[in-house]
Amino acid sequence: MQDIISQLDEKRAQAYLGGGKKRIDAQHKRGKLTARERIELFLDEGSFEEWDTFKEHRCTEFGMDEAEKIPGDGVVTGYGTVNGRLIFVFSQDFTVFGGSLSEAYAEKICKIMDHAMKVGAPVVGLNDSGGARIQEGVASLAGYADIFQRNVLASGVIPQVSVIMGPCAGGAVYSPAMTDFIFMVKDSSYMFVTGPDVVKTVTHEEVTAEELGGAITHTSKSGVADLAFENDVEALMMIRRLIGFIPSSNREPLPLLPVTDPPNRLDYSLDTLVPDNPNLPYDMKELIVKIIDDGDFFELQPDYAKNIIIGFARMEGSPVGIVANQPMVLAGCLDIRSSVKAARFVRFCDAFNIPVITFVDVPGFLPGTAQEYGGIIKHGAKLLYAFAECTVPKVTVITRKAYGGAYDVMSSKHLRGDVNFAWPSAEIAVMGAKGAVEIIFREEKNCPEKLAAREAEYKSRFANPFVAGARGFIDDVIMPNETRVRICRSLTMLKNKKLENPWRKHGNIPL
Ligand code: HXC
Repeated sequence: MQDIISQLDEKRAQAYLGGGKKRIDAQHKRGKLTARERIELFLDEGSFEEWDTFKEHRCTEFGMDEAEKIPGDGVVTGYGTVNGRLIFVFSQDFTVFGGSLSEAYAEKICKIMDHAMKVGAPVVGLNDSGGARIQEGVASLAGYADIFQRNVLASGVIPQVSVIMGPCAGGAVYSPAMTDFIFMVKDSSYMFVTGPDVVKTVTHEEVTAEELGGAITHTSKSGVADLAFENDVEALMMIRRLIGFIPSSNREPLPLLPVTDPPNRLDYSLDTLVPDNPNLPYDMKELIVKIIDDGDFFELQPDYAKNIIIGFARMEGSPVGIVANQPMVLAGCLDIRSSVKAARFVRFCDAFNIPVITFVDVPGFLPGTAQEYGGIIKHGAKLLYAFAECTVPKVTVITRKAYGGAYDVMSSKHLRGDVNFAWPSAEIAVMGAKGAVEIIFREEKNCPEKLAAREAEYKSRFANPFVAGARGFIDDVIMPNETRVRICRSLTMLKNKKLENPWRKHGNIPL
C-alpha cells in the first residue's frame, strides 16, 4: 500500500513536471505560462478537479515505445468553477511533444466534452499544440475527428470557448473554428491551415507566421478570432469575464447579477447624440455604454467589420446581446463582413436564450462590384435569416436611418421584433431623400430648384418615424433620454416569452 502511495506521488510529480524543467523554462522565456499555470489562473482558486492525470499514449512507432512516457500525455483535463459556476477545461501542454495530439490525448478531451454535455456546462479549451502527433499518424487524425464531431453536437447546447495560446495549425484549427468564441494572445499565438513555408512553395508569397495567422491578422483581417489579448493572464481573465454573460447550457437560466444601476435612469445627453445633419456620423458606442448596466460592455470583434458592433451587456442584471450599426464606419452600411459577423452573434444569443437589443442607423447595403462579386446577396441574407429565425426577446431602437432592405433585416417588426422603438430623429424609408427624388423625378434632373423642392417634400413626408408608426411597425416614438427605462420595461414584459419555430430537422441558412 505504502508502495502504491509513493508511486502515486512519484507519477503525479512527473505529470506536474510535464516535459521537464528545461522545456518549462523555454515556455516561460517565450512569455507563455504552462498548461497547469493557465488552469490555476483561469479557475476559481483550488477548484480544479483533474482527470486522467495518469493516462499515457499507446504509440510504439518511431521509437515511441522506448521514449519516456509522461503521465497525462500532453494535455491537462478536468473541471472546476469560474465564479462558482461549473466549467470543463482542457489545457494543451506544449512541453510534452510540443502539445501534439495523440489518440490517448484526444480521448481525454472527448471525455470532458461528453461529461460537459451530460451535465450542461461550458467547455473551455486552452490551445497550445504542434498539431497531430506525427508518430501516431492516422490515429491522431482520428482523434481530431472525434473532437470535431463532439464540437458539432455540442454547438448550441453548451457554450464552447477556444483560447489560442501558442501554435494552432493544419486541420487542428477546425476544432476552435467550430466553437462559439476564439480568443488569441498577441505575439505568441497563431492559426493557419498551412504555414509560411508551404505558402511560399505553393503561392510564392513571403509571409511571416505572425502576418499569416497571428492575433492581429485574425481579429482585424479574417474575423476568425473575436479578441486579441496582450498576454496569457489578460486572456484568461477576460474569458472569466465572458463566462459571466452566458448561461451554462441552452437549458440553464441566464446568470443574473444584483441590480446596481437603476433601470429608470434617464440620460439627457442622449437627446443630442444624433447630429441635426443626417450626413454627419456619431458614435453608436456612446449610446450602448450609456444605456446598459454600469457601462459594462463586453464587445466582440471590435477591430473587424467596425460598421457593426456586437457584444454582451446586462440590463437590470440580466445578460443581453447587443447588435448595432456604427455610423462612424461606412456610414453604418451593411456589407459582407458585418452581416456575417452579426449573424453568427445573433444565432449564438438565440441558441442560448439571450435577449437581443438592436440599435439601427443603417443607410442600406454597401453598393459596388466588390460586394456583389463577393456574394453580398448570400451573406447579407445570413443576417436576415438569423434575425428571422431568432425566437428570444427582441427589442429594436431605430435612432436615425432605417432604409430599404436593411430596415427589414435589422430586427424589424416584420421579422418578429417584439418591441420596436424609434427616436424622433428616425427616418424609415425605402432610401434617402436625395436618391429617392433622383429616381422618381428623373425627368427633372436638369432643374436643380425643382429637385430641391421635391427632396424637401420627400423629407417632410418620409424622413420621420410617423409613416411606420401609423402602420404599427413602430410601437412607440421615444425620447433618447428614456431609452434605458423603455428597454428595461420591454425586457421585463418579455421575460416569459414563448415562441417556437415549426419543427424541422434544421433550416438551410445561406452559407
Ligand atoms: C510530435 C512534435 C510535433 C508534432 C512539435 N513536436 N510538433 N512532436 N508531433 N506534431 C515536438 C518537437 O519534436 C519538439 O520536441 C517539441 O515538440 C517542441 O517543438 P519545436 O519544434 O522545438 O518547437 P518550436 O520551435 O516552438 O516550433 C513549434 C512548431 C513546430 C511550429 C509547432 O514544432 C512544428 O512545426 N511542428 C510540426 C507541426 C506539424 O507539422 N504538425 C502536424 C500538422 S498536421 P523536443 O523533444 O525537441 O522538445 C495536423 C493535422 C491535424 O496537425 C489534422 C486534423 C484533422
